[in-house]
Amino acid sequence: MDPWTSQKKIENQAQMLANKVKKRHKHLRKRYYRQNLEIFRLYDWDIPEIRAVVDWYAGHLVIGEYSTKQSTKEWLPIMGQAVAKILDVPRDKLHLKIRRSGFKEGKRYSRINTINKKIPMYERDLKFLINPTDYVDTGLFSDHRNTRQMIRERARGKTFLNLYCYTGSFTCYAARGGAKKTVSVDRSETAVSWVKENLELNGLYGEHHALIQKDTLDFLATANHEYQDFDLAVVDPPSYSTTRVTGEHFDIAREHPRMLNAVFKRMKSGATVFFSTNHQNFDLKTTQLLPTDITEITHKTIPEDYVSKRKQIHRCREIIV
Ligand SMILES: C[S@@+](CC[C@H](N)C(=O)[O-])C[C@H]1O[C@@H](n2cnc3c(N)ncnc32)[C@H](O)[C@@H]1O
Repeated sequence: MDPWTSQKKIENQAQMLANKVKKRHKHLRKRYYRQNLEIFRLYDWDIPEIRAVVDWYAGHLVIGEYSTKQSTKEWLPIMGQAVAKILDVPRDKLHLKIRRSGFKEGKRYSRINTINKKIPMYERDLKFLINPTDYVDTGLFSDHRNTRQMIRERARGKTFLNLYCYTGSFTCYAARGGAKKTVSVDRSETAVSWVKENLELNGLYGEHHALIQKDTLDFLATANHEYQDFDLAVVDPPSYSTTRVTGEHFDIAREHPRMLNAVFKRMKSGATVFFSTNHQNFDLKTTQLLPTDITEITHKTIPEDYVSKRKQIHRCREIIV
């Protein structure tokens, strides 16, 4: 394709994307703002040739490109400018990110910038610190906002375990819902200190909220009796992870029975575990799990702005131990 035709094609795509995003924003904005939801999804690769994902963050736009070998460096900025213009978002609130396909966990969570500025944004009556610039992910996975609400509704008087807790959004909901004790585990130091900041931001931090920087499998194998007999848990692991100490690869599709069985042993009888994965080829190996009662609840946990014909953003199961 000659450069002029290719430039024209990119501009047409940018206009198509901007129009679609504007319509979606108009449809969702009022209702979501009424519920004090400041973060929502506007577009996720809905048009096959426009491989972008567009998220609204309280007046900021975070736009990602699912890049391929054919991607050119001007494509994403042109998409970004068109979307920002149509929604009247100033340049300093437009954040562009490349999402390489097959991004395995290590790369996905590594730093891409060092601006170090976190902005508080609302999800219902809770605030979360968002960093729109420094990592591919911003600090809050909005596709789980309904699941978080379900955790809050069940948390009163309960002990709550949050594995792979990231920035602790589930922990904040459980704490606000009246959990008597929470334990949040993540192997990343950045994540664990982010949990503390989010708890503090909401006036929830206290000694009954334990923050543990540890590999999940290590924690499950070695934690003492203090970390036993939980009533409620969330297990939301990345699809792939590498254990830092041994360099061992962990693929959730293959190895979830070992991990989940270890979780079940930490729970009270009759306790509830929410298990979620965004692995796109995932089959739960029920025959290798200890006896439990498992219900898929994905239709309740995926919010309207994340419903997509292309893929399910996550699959979530409620498991009674
Ligand atoms: C998919 S996110 C979890 C999202 C989180 N549940 C939420 O709702 O925001 C993945 C998190 O798992 C952590 N992680 C990855 N491998 C881990 C491991 N082996 N043990 C503990 N945490 C791990 C990462 O540091 C990251 O914070």
